[in-house]
Amino acid sequence: MNIYALLVSRFTQALDEMGVENAPVPIARSARPEFGEYQFNGAMALAKQLKQKPRDIAEKIVEQVKLDDVAHKLEIAGPGFINIHLNDAWLANQCELALHDPRLGIAKQSQQNVVVDYSSPNLAKEMHVGHLRTTIIGDSVVKLLEFLGHNVIRQNHMGDWGTQFGMLLAHFNDKLEANYMAETALSDLEDFYREAKVRFDEEEGFADRAREFVVKLQGGDESCLALWERFIDISIQHSEEVYEKLNVSLTRKDVMGESAYNDDLANVVADLKAQGIAVEDQGAQVVFLPELADKEGKPAVFIVQKSGGGYLYATTDLAAMRYRSGKLNADRTLILTDARQAYHFKQTEIVGRKAGFMKPEQSYEHCPFGMMLGSDGKPFKTRSGGTVKLVDLLDEAVTRARDLIGKRDSDLSAEELDDVARKVGIGAVKYADLSKNRTTDYVFNWDTMLSFEGNTAPYLQYAFTRVQSIFRKSGISVADLPVDIKINEKQEHALAVQLMQFEETINVVARDATPHVLCSYLYDLASAFMSFYEACPILREDTPVAVRHSRLALAALVSNTMSLGLSLLGIETLEKM
Ligand code: ARG
Repeated sequence: MNIYALLVSRFTQALDEMGVENAPVPIARSARPEFGEYQFNGAMALAKQLKQKPRDIAEKIVEQVKLDDVAHKLEIAGPGFINIHLNDAWLANQCELALHDPRLGIAKQSQQNVVVDYSSPNLAKEMHVGHLRTTIIGDSVVKLLEFLGHNVIRQNHMGDWGTQFGMLLAHFNDKLEANYMAETALSDLEDFYREAKVRFDEEEGFADRAREFVVKLQGGDESCLALWERFIDISIQHSEEVYEKLNVSLTRKDVMGESAYNDDLANVVADLKAQGIAVEDQGAQVVFLPELADKEGKPAVFIVQKSGGGYLYATTDLAAMRYRSGKLNADRTLILTDARQAYHFKQTEIVGRKAGFMKPEQSYEHCPFGMMLGSDGKPFKTRSGGTVKLVDLLDEAVTRARDLIGKRDSDLSAEELDDVARKVGIGAVKYADLSKNRTTDYVFNWDTMLSFEGNTAPYLQYAFTRVQSIFRKSGISVADLPVDIKINEKQEHALAVQLMQFEETINVVARDATPHVLCSYLYDLASAFMSFYEACPILREDTPVAVRHSRLALAALVSNTMSLGLSLLGIETLEKM
C-alpha cells in the first residue's frame, strides 16, 4: 500500500472534477499526530489561480474528494490546510492484505533497465575503506530496485587498465622470474604496489622497462596480456574476498572494468572530433565547456586525449556511457563514487549528451557520497597513518561483536555465537554507513555502531529477535494465526500507520538512491513496535484471545516488514542473540 500515491490520486481526481487541471497536489506527512497523518496543502497555491479564498477552496475540495474509505476525518486548519486522519478499519484491512502477501502488498514499478555502477575498486591496489561506501550503498540500492521489479545491471567499473600497469607488470614479471608463485607475489597488493613504485622511482632502467610494458600491453602483445590477465585475476580475488565477507551480491560477471572499453576509446575521440565537439589544443584533444565557465568567462577544459596520444579516465567514461545507453539500453544509470568525482561526472554528462552518446530521456545520475572519517575528524587511517585494508576492518568488526555478545547473558552455543558475531559485526559496519545521509562525511566509530541502543544494526537485529521470541512464547505459529486485525488503541493505530508507510519509503529510496531513508524508517518502526508492545499487552493472561490474535498479527507484519527491510539493506536477521 502506497498511501501517499493513493492520496495524490484521490486529490487529483477531486481537482479534476472541480475543473482545476494540472494543479500540483502537494501531500505531506503531518508534523504531529493531532493533525492526522497526512496533509494536503495545495489550497493556498490555488487561491490566486481561482481568485478565491484558500479556506473556501479547501472546503470545496473536502466536499469533493472521495476518501470515505481511507480517512475517518478531514479537517481544515490554518489558512487552508486539509488534515487527513486515517481510518482504523481501513488500516486494519490494509495490514491484513499485506500479511497475506509475500510482497507485503508492495506493487512492482513499471520496469526499467537500471545500470548501477558501484564498488569499482582499482585493481592495482588493495581494496580500502574508500570503496566501502560505494559497495555497501550500491548493493542496497541494487537489491531494492530489483525488489521493485526493475531489470538491474550491475557494473563493476574496476580500474584495471592504465599506465601504472606498466610498472606493476614489470615488477610482477621479475617476481615470477625469481620463482615466486603469482599468488604469493600478490598476496598484499599494497606492499606490491609500493615496491613497484620504489623501483620505478629509484632503480636504473626500471622505468624504461615499465614503459615498454605499457606499449606492449596496449599494442595487444600476447604474453604481456597473459601476464596482465593473471595479475587482474588474482587482484579480483582480493575484492571477492571482501564481497563475500560483506555478503554483497557482486560477482565476476558484473565486472566491466576500464579495460573493456579500451578498443573503443579511439572511436570515441574520432566521433567527438567529427562532430566538432573535440578540438586540438596544444597537441591534446579537448572539449571546451562554456556551460562550466569560470568567473572570467573562460570555459572549462575537458581533455579526452593527451598530447602523447594516451586516453584518460574521462574518455573511458564516455565510452561506458555510450555502451550503457546503446547496448544495455539503460533507462537510468546510477554511478556511486565519492563526492570528489562530482565535477568529473558533470563534465562527462555534458559532453556525452552533446555528442548524443545517450538519449535525452535516459538519465545519468552520479550519486556522490562523503568521506569516512576517523574519530579525529580526518580521513580514516590506521594508527600508523596507512590505509586501512577492508578485509582487516571487517575481521575486526566480527571480533568486536563476538566480545560484546559473549559478555551478554545468553544461551548461545559456541557455533551460534560465531554466526551471531558475524551477522552483528558485519551488519554494524554496513548499517553505520547506510544509515547516514550519503552526501555527508561520517565518523567511523566502533562503539556507536556496535551499540544496542540508537539507530544501529544491533538495535534493529535485537528488536527483530524480540518479535520472534514473542511468537515462540505465544505457542502459535504465524501460519496458524487467524488474521483478523482490530485497531483500538492509539499505539496500535500508530504502528499500523508506520507499517503502511513502508512502500512509499522504499519508493523514495529507489528514486534518490538514499538507503538512510529506509534505515530511519526501520528504526521508527522498531520504536513504534516497542511503544505498542508496552502499551498493548499481547501474552498477558487477561488479554482476550481475539485481541491477542489481532496484536500478534500486527507483530507478524512488523516481523515481515523488518526482515524484508533489513534484507534490502543487506543486513542479516537472527532468531535469537
Ligand atoms: N575506480 C574508480 C575509483 O576508485 C571508480 C570508478 C567509478 N565508475 C566510473 N564509471 N568512473 O575512484
